[in-house]
Amino acid sequence: MKTRILEFLKTTDDYFSGEELSRRLNISRSAVWKNIRELRKEGYDITAVPHRGYLLKSVPDCLTSREIQYNLKTKILGQNIIHFDEVSSTMDVAFQLGVDGAPEGTVVFAEQQTKGRGRLGRTWNSPKGKGIYCSMILRPAMTPTDVAKMTLLTAVAVCEAIEQTTSVHPCIKWPNDLLVGSKKIAGCLTELSAEMDRVRFVVVGVGINVNTPLKFLPDTATSLKAELKEQVNRSELVRSFLLTFETWYKQVLENGFDSVLERWKELSSTLGSKVRVTEVGKSFEGEAVGLDEYGGLIIKIPSGEVIKRMTGDVELIF
Ligand code: BTN
Repeated sequence: MKTRILEFLKTTDDYFSGEELSRRLNISRSAVWKNIRELRKEGYDITAVPHRGYLLKSVPDCLTSREIQYNLKTKILGQNIIHFDEVSSTMDVAFQLGVDGAPEGTVVFAEQQTKGRGRLGRTWNSPKGKGIYCSMILRPAMTPTDVAKMTLLTAVAVCEAIEQTTSVHPCIKWPNDLLVGSKKIAGCLTELSAEMDRVRFVVVGVGINVNTPLKFLPDTATSLKAELKEQVNRSELVRSFLLTFETWYKQVLENGFDSVLERWKELSSTLGSKVRVTEVGKSFEGEAVGLDEYGGLIIKIPSGEVIKRMTGDVELIF
């Protein structure tokens, strides 16, 4: 009922009559008032004026299902949303939900993570209410070896969603870093539960530095707000990401990864660049020349030899 009341209030910048609300929703005036009081407790700023009705002045800046699902155009992703004020990591929560049988498309959001993590054991700084920290449960009919390419799909979807909702144009550093200039603005992480030849489920995690002040981030990172000098609406960015991701995901399930890999190449700053690859303490340099069929990076080293890597840290050398 609260969601339906909000839907009516969001249709106008003016007051919406209480009488009209009670008629349209077929509930009493006092039931309308009770729901309005509860919405206020959730952070919705609603003014009530006798004989005029209710005016929605502002909505809370949080990633609850009520906010995300408003105008959400997806069919699967985000139809089931679980929201926390604080968790250790949305990856852990989503993984457990996956084990417990949560449906495909379930998305876990947190306002804050105390142990947000990235690739290669790194931490992901997750200050309260500033970034987007989410993990999605997927149950794709694909082999475990294909799952590495889901990280590339995710990076493409985050990149396109940022481009659709802001004037920032990030590029992708293999495999999953989104950069603005040389600074990281978002990252993606894919974890898997599988048998030898069958995927049980995949958890795709995304972290985006949205309104994050630079004091919370390492020197190598930036945020959308720092780039744009203005606040960015997190729910709008999430809706755009979920729709973009779902569109690519359906395309991959129907036709395979070819188009997503092509799009990744267009958005990537890695291919054609000189790179330094570091893996367990050792590093080597070369030119990134392509992606293999598993989404691995192909590097040509100075001797002319061609090397493929599925993991490791890649630095662009200018
Ligand atoms: C990386 O760049 O190495 C990946 C970063 C992934 C961060 C996100 S934030 C939401 C989800 N929960 C986590 O603990 N990590 C991912």
